[in-house]
Amino acid sequence: MPAHRHLVPPLAERGHLKLTESELREWGEHLGRSINPPLLITLTGELGVGKTTLAQAICLGYGVRDPITSPTYALVQEYSALRSAVFHIDLYRVESPDQLTNLGWDDILVSRALILVEWPERAGSRLPEDHLPIDLDYIVGDATRRILLAG
Ligand SMILES: Nc1ncnc2c1ncn2[C@@H]1O[C@H](COP(=O)(O)OP(=O)(O)OP(=O)(O)O)[C@@H](O)[C@H]1O
Ligand SMILES: [Mg+2]
Repeated sequence: MPAHRHLVPPLAERGHLKLTESELREWGEHLGRSINPPLLITLTGELGVGKTTLAQAICLGYGVRDPITSPTYALVQEYSALRSAVFHIDLYRVESPDQLTNLGWDDILVSRALILVEWPERAGSRLPEDHLPIDLDYIVGDATRRILLAG
């Protein structure tokens, strides 16, 4: 059985939103509440655009009760929730897809968990095609909002 056959949650239909930080968190929590695992979500966008902020909101909505931290140093942060385990992975410092093996990438992908991946580009061809992509963009002239594209 493929590890990540899933339907895109209804909230993540092709959309194009301009959101403040609190709106982004609200959107993320709402998405988190609607997720049925297994699901792989990729979070793309430039440095500091809000990927971790959104990942943390999704975790909160999904029901993670552990303290939610940033995976920048650990690369992989694992949480538990009623519906499944949650992996929040930051691949920024991964230089080649080969390095994913040491992170336990293959086991994580088949774990039937909710998986949130920042900098998924770094995974190259080891990123499964079957995932929900979310992209964040800065808006020129508006430091408080971000463009969000999902699905
Ligand atoms: N509309 C917004 N949405 C999200 N974050 C915002 C928004 N406006 C301002 N911010 C700020 O932008 C920063 C986003 O930081 P965050 O760590 O989430 O980014 P990131 O994309 O994960 O960065 P990195 O590429 O280093 O992983 C936070 O300091 C947050 O307060
Ligand atoms: Mg981040």
